[in-house]
Amino acid sequence: MSQNDLREPDNAQIHDESENTPSNKSGNRPFADVLASALSRRGILQGSLAGAAAGFLSPQALARSDRDRWRSRRRRQALVDFEPLSIEDAIVDDTSPSISRDYQYQVLIPWGTPIEPGATEEFTGDPNNRPTSAQAALQIGIGHDGMWFYPDEGGFLSRLDDKFDDKFDDRFKRRRSDKSNRKGMLCINHEFGTNFHVLGKSMPESLEDVRLSQNVHGVSVVAIENSYRGWEVVKSPNSRRITANTPMRFSGPAANSALLQNPNGNVPLGTINNCGSGPTPWGTYLTCEENFNGYFGSTEGEAFNNARTQEQERYGFDFDGFNYGWHFFDRRFDLSDPDYINESNRFGWVVEIDPQDATQTPVKRTAMGRFKHEAVAIAESSNGRVAAYMGDDQRFDYCYKYVSDLPWRTAIAEGKSPLDEGKLYVARFDEDGTGEWLELTINNPDLAARFANQGELLINARIAADILGATPMDRPEWTTIGKDGEVYWTLTNNSQRTVTDAANPEAPNSDGHIIRTVDSNDFLGTTFTWEIYILASSTRGTPGVFTDPDAAYADPEGRLFIGTDGGQPDGLQDQLVVFDTTAETPEPKRLLTGVASDEITGWAVTPDFRTAFVNIQHPGNGDPARTNFPAPRDGRTIPRDCTLVITKRNGDVVGS
Ligand code: FEO
Ligand code: CA
Ligand code: CA
Ligand code: CA
Repeated sequence: MSQNDLREPDNAQIHDESENTPSNKSGNRPFADVLASALSRRGILQGSLAGAAAGFLSPQALARSDRDRWRSRRRRQALVDFEPLSIEDAIVDDTSPSISRDYQYQVLIPWGTPIEPGATEEFTGDPNNRPTSAQAALQIGIGHDGMWFYPDEGGFLSRLDDKFDDKFDDRFKRRRSDKSNRKGMLCINHEFGTNFHVLGKSMPESLEDVRLSQNVHGVSVVAIENSYRGWEVVKSPNSRRITANTPMRFSGPAANSALLQNPNGNVPLGTINNCGSGPTPWGTYLTCEENFNGYFGSTEGEAFNNARTQEQERYGFDFDGFNYGWHFFDRRFDLSDPDYINESNRFGWVVEIDPQDATQTPVKRTAMGRFKHEAVAIAESSNGRVAAYMGDDQRFDYCYKYVSDLPWRTAIAEGKSPLDEGKLYVARFDEDGTGEWLELTINNPDLAARFANQGELLINARIAADILGATPMDRPEWTTIGKDGEVYWTLTNNSQRTVTDAANPEAPNSDGHIIRTVDSNDFLGTTFTWEIYILASSTRGTPGVFTDPDAAYADPEGRLFIGTDGGQPDGLQDQLVVFDTTAETPEPKRLLTGVASDEITGWAVTPDFRTAFVNIQHPGNGDPARTNFPAPRDGRTIPRDCTLVITKRNGDVVGS
């Protein structure tokens, strides 16, 4: 059978189907009859942004004098002044990426690159030489998504780490010369690879097939270095693969819940559908489990659906899942196996990974709730407590925030995790441009009436959020913290919306939008103000047209990078666009477009912001007839997910 015969209609579609099928039947529609133009309220937020800046000193604000000095060195230059990639230039070739003429890219770590110490076998995309499951467990996985770069030496582990805030001159020097910009560990998520792409067939035929599929999922932690040859993988004892079968640990309020134990007594294993991610100020990597439901199925077939619990239904479990077929050979993923009755509760978490210790057992942080975690962005308040902003990507699902009880340094000094003790909130967006963070706590009588304890509540966070009257959103994807402490939320689209509200003002919402919020009390408060930053539909017919915003990253100078995931207008492939958030009017500038049927996602930067990493996910949906990227066009080589290293030709900051 030729590869063409194996072509699936659209493999990403399988995953989209899940996100697109609403399971929220709560009827939460707090302001169904509000039609006021949210855009006209831009002034409200600008006022509140100014107020926020005056009312508290965020770490970003504290660092502002540093940045002002940096900016003054560069003041003749607009924040975003590269020559955008035109629609005409972008659509010339959809078999390899196109990039602004002011930029260049290099391919790094395509699926199948050997990384673990001792690994030698490489998968090059040859359809006749697919890896074994054992080889795949030592190689870069597929479905490149969220990532972060952890420099080896000197550099700050995230830009929220304030230890350099008052040492700007030192930092500036280091930025230009330091090894931290040339060598480090890259943590990268492997969200998914369909059976068609990975196995070359629609269903597994053996446990070995299932193990191969499982081992290309998960996370890679890989040492990389920029040498005279460009960026490349280098040997490190810290490099490792984390897969669907890697031992895990649970922590936080649900860790000892009976709902996370199986009659079988099996230890927690694996992380799957790792979508977006986020760095912590203390130097670890948070990976987010999104469409975990799709890997489970039932050997009882449709009978399972008829007997589903409310919890199973709310989390989208279904007898055939996304047709991975793991449950036919691995009992752990059979929803009807009485020995593994709670296995499905073990996924849907934020998982913490130490990039500098390959012996560390990844930890699932239950205090942050269980839902389809897209990504996480952490802000640090001036007293050191942290707030984590998180989207639950499904039509009509919610925006969440976790706030640590303790300043993170205090928690770590006491041998605790800042992510184990804290409060979890869900957002209600009100029509007047304000909103409320509703706490998901067993101390609320309405929630105590439904759940036995906080652990059970967190395992079923979606149901708790339904009860509190959270605002159903148009598929919350990534979050990122802007330079003045504002939080950007990408809402990718929602073609099933029929009734608008102020925060989701289009029905249907075909193109998606971006909201920005500002929390009260230095990220820690229970109220916020918000505005629509941009409706993607407003860019139609303009040179910067984009839709379906998904990945997001805001840099400390005010640039906002958006990666898209969805059919783009005007013949464009998915793209990376850049905004100057300090400008009066948001205006996307196109930096890059990908290849046929891919998605542009993930983001990481070196400490000097002069090298960025972004991913080409599911190129050609795995079909060699569409593209063979990163291999040259030959119609035969399997296209492979990979990372692009992006630099400006003049060596300046990426996005400038
Ligand atoms: Fe993994 Fe919602 O994208
Ligand atoms: Ca996404
Ligand atoms: Ca998406
Ligand atoms: Ca994706």
